[in-house]
Amino acid sequence: MSFSRRGFLAGSSAAMAALATRPAWADQNSLYWQAGWETAPAEGFAPTEMTLVRGKLPEGLNGALYRNGPAQFRYGDKTLPHWFDGDGMVHSIRFANGKAVHTGRFVQTEKRRIEQAQKAFVVPGFGTEGDPNFAVSNPDAANAANTSVLRVGDDLLALWEAGSAFAMDPVSLETRGPKTWREDLKGMPFLAHPKVEPNGTIWNLGIGGSRVGIYKISPAGALQEFGLVDTGLASYIHDFAMTERSLIILVQPWVYKRNIPPFTASMAWEPEHGLKVLIVDKNDFSKTRWAEMPPRFFFHTGDAWEDESGTIHMDIATYENADFVEHGEADIISGKYQKPKTAPAQMAMAVIPKTGEAKLIDTGLPAEFPRIDPRYQGQVRNQVWMIDTSQRDHAPGSSIIRRLNWDSVTPDAHDFGREHMVEEHLFVPRPGSDNEGDGWLVGTTLNMRERATEVHVFDAMRINHGPLASFRAPYAWPLGFHGTWASA
Ligand SMILES: [Fe+2]
Repeated sequence: MSFSRRGFLAGSSAAMAALATRPAWADQNSLYWQAGWETAPAEGFAPTEMTLVRGKLPEGLNGALYRNGPAQFRYGDKTLPHWFDGDGMVHSIRFANGKAVHTGRFVQTEKRRIEQAQKAFVVPGFGTEGDPNFAVSNPDAANAANTSVLRVGDDLLALWEAGSAFAMDPVSLETRGPKTWREDLKGMPFLAHPKVEPNGTIWNLGIGGSRVGIYKISPAGALQEFGLVDTGLASYIHDFAMTERSLIILVQPWVYKRNIPPFTASMAWEPEHGLKVLIVDKNDFSKTRWAEMPPRFFFHTGDAWEDESGTIHMDIATYENADFVEHGEADIISGKYQKPKTAPAQMAMAVIPKTGEAKLIDTGLPAEFPRIDPRYQGQVRNQVWMIDTSQRDHAPGSSIIRRLNWDSVTPDAHDFGREHMVEEHLFVPRPGSDNEGDGWLVGTTLNMRERATEVHVFDAMRINHGPLASFRAPYAWPLGFHGTWASA
């Protein structure tokens, strides 16, 4: 066949025309990162076996990884203005007999019922104005139930932060309804980051302005105690930390200033307040002390412990300011991605002595979603697992998980590769063992090339060896925030 310049140019211009008609997001990359922010089917995902694509499930790993995340991003041509306001979908990936089975269901909240009926985002939220005529009668009217999950008693709880937890059936994922811990606490805020002592006792906070409610819940799910402390500043509190003796309440300088929706518009970054730390005695909430660190924004701590001198150590993922939370990934939801100009979260260690100055030691390691071995919650330990937050040109998110040993500099990491977006990975203890780190790391990635969600299992102390097992679903589900593990 002879070369024809005319034919070549015709072919070339046809290719150019085809390129010009591709959607904008496809021009940015060949990977379908948008699958992470696509509305899930309203009926959810019926139990579906995932395909084993690598290795095999380790013996002894039986149970369910539960996760929660926003899963409603569009009504017609309207896109959700803030990632944090999507209706929660709870997922379970149940591991048994070498297999992994995925199920997903929307949490049937009042907000979802109203918006599904109107096919519109009408309820004001974290970063969504909603319909100005919609009156929020109580916090649960705006409850998206989309942030995390907690397994307690007979319930799986879908957690938000500004209203009730929502109880669900842990197997079918059918919604049972808002959880009331005590009649006088009906509708009270309940954070999405409860802390569970190794004996199963659950501690959590609920925030109302500068007042912080403290919940103490038995392993079976009965409220044992509820108390209040006042931080003096109406700060955004998404997470806290806990030692054996104390609750560590971080009062960051993103503070409530004015009563206008959405929540992000009511807040302001005022670094002059610093990052204050209120330390509350778990046995007597009236016994408190304060420490202060340099101003940082944060979502998540790993955990905290007290050494023999009473000094508190706490891993925390910090941001320079509140830019990320105010923005809320609105561009990404509407299909546009540009590598962020703001610095990503980085892992730090807070060191808070009994007296004297507290320190925040930056590691320079870009990371978020710190998780620890739950057998060491509140106790002296070394290990923390996290996901990398390095920013990429071709897609949002990162492809790397990391383990950090605070006692050594030996790095341990695994890179899934550029076609993956990695989500929180959880530590799962090996049954019958109590050595810190003896167990597995379990978590999900969105494989953008395959347009499918995968779940991976690692030897938690050797994540650089790669997954022991990986399973792939025959579809992708939207990215989520947090999860929990429940043994079979
Ligand atoms: Fe969170």
